[in-house]
Amino acid sequence: AATHEHKWEVEYAFKSPDCYRKLAITINGQYPGPTIAARQGDAVVVTVRNGLLTENVAIHWHGIRQYGTPWMDGTAGVTQCPILPGESFVYRFVVERAGTYLYHAHYGIQRQAGLYGMIEVSLPMGESEPFSYDFDRSIILADWYHANTYEQFVALSSVPFVWIGDPSSILIQGRGKFKCSTPGMEPELCNATSPECVPHVLTVVAGKTYRIRIGSLTSLAALSFEIEGHNMTVVEADGHYVEPMTVKNLFIYSGEAYSVLVTADQDASRNYWTTAKIVSFESSTPQGLAIFNYYPNRPLRNPPTTPPIGPRWDDAEARSAQSSAVKALAGYAYPPPRKADRRIVMLNTQNTIDGHVRWAINNVSLTFPQTPYLIAYKENFRRAFNRTPPPDDYDFGNYDIYAVAGNPNATENDGVYRLKFNSTVDVVLQNANTLNPNTSETHPWHLHGHDFWVLGYGSGEFDRVKDPKKYNLLNPIKKNTVAVQPYSWTALRFTADNPGVWAFHCHIEPHFLAGMAVIFEEGVEKVGKLPSSIMGCGLTKGYPKP
Ligand code: C2O
Ligand code: CU
Repeated sequence: AATHEHKWEVEYAFKSPDCYRKLAITINGQYPGPTIAARQGDAVVVTVRNGLLTENVAIHWHGIRQYGTPWMDGTAGVTQCPILPGESFVYRFVVERAGTYLYHAHYGIQRQAGLYGMIEVSLPMGESEPFSYDFDRSIILADWYHANTYEQFVALSSVPFVWIGDPSSILIQGRGKFKCSTPGMEPELCNATSPECVPHVLTVVAGKTYRIRIGSLTSLAALSFEIEGHNMTVVEADGHYVEPMTVKNLFIYSGEAYSVLVTADQDASRNYWTTAKIVSFESSTPQGLAIFNYYPNRPLRNPPTTPPIGPRWDDAEARSAQSSAVKALAGYAYPPPRKADRRIVMLNTQNTIDGHVRWAINNVSLTFPQTPYLIAYKENFRRAFNRTPPPDDYDFGNYDIYAVAGNPNATENDGVYRLKFNSTVDVVLQNANTLNPNTSETHPWHLHGHDFWVLGYGSGEFDRVKDPKKYNLLNPIKKNTVAVQPYSWTALRFTADNPGVWAFHCHIEPHFLAGMAVIFEEGVEKVGKLPSSIMGCGLTKGYPKP
């Protein structure tokens, strides 16, 4: 196996990805960050130097299991102390499975400032995918805000709460187009002819088939992605093969990664639109546009049509139907254990704590201790966080998921769900009403350190007797990120077989910031000696550096 070494300088730089100039967090001057390419079983070594003047940083390798290296997960507050300004940290891990993964900042709300990229892991030499294509391409989708992360952080944590508003643009592979003619736009800030905001172009040759890896790193929005006039066949989801599924548009949630196959089989004398539209809430943000260019037409020649408008934003049924249709590819399905040892039902609610708007799970809104959990366990700091675990259920039978909570107060806590090593755990995510009447949001949940089987989706309140009987135990897809739709539930199963401490959270960055997360611990006693490079904060202040 090979070792891939990267040296990254993380810095702020002026970028105009949608023609509007703002500060973005870049890697070696790039936004989005460079793609990491490796083969299954290879080692990846990334030396990150924090070149931000006043902010800490940490980088998470989203979808990488980190088996045996839980301290390399890059989750500030959970698996490491953040990297201080001016300091460097070396991430060193093995990529265990072929597939499409992501990486991004995991400190504060830096992700939405642009610190992210893709990880593409190919099969070992001589092995081939169970599908064929001529070329491999990739696209990162993101929503983009002109307000900086400080303004957003202050807005979100203010009393009263100040909503950050709709994204300014949707970016396809780091490119979008804000309307610089919007009244009040300073011409020196918004330059419609900046080369940075020329649309992304995917050039294809008629008759060829393209594998397009699509990852979403939106801060907030769920998107519908579409290539005008072309079907897409979904073949991979979060690193697992999918029973080929042909769609006209792909719904994609923050933290998800898919591969689709697209054959350039349409009229080759013209170009086509590629669109990304917000579907999880009603939005004034125009859809993101890119160009699907048939060679040898001019790459930037506009298609002769108007861009497809995509599905209605409020058609949650279409979204659920697509999610439910994703199944593991026959012959590659690893059926889950028949029964779980434990079931944790997690009620997702929006709450208030001392006037602040927060999100909570079973009425507990997560706060992070000063000493990262992994370090606290291994160094035996008994008081680093609350040792009483959060509840495995909510007050079932006495909670109306369709109503604003009678008492919207939640508690803040930093307790941990301790899972028996190697046990089988079911998690049922139960969505509910927010603080506004007749409103329930979509939440994409991401689990660190594991892939889980997606056992089922349903609308309404999870029926503890009937619904488990409908679980798909035959060919459920394995994923690391899954959505829970408004007023609905999603059921997952995983094996707690990865020694360490792992975050499980909503991938919407402002929700995570507001406490929509839980922490799992399993087999921490099996974790080897922690590298001192992850220490230095909380109760390890002043610990010797190597
Ligand atoms: Cu991609 Cu904890 O996140
Ligand atoms: Cu959420």
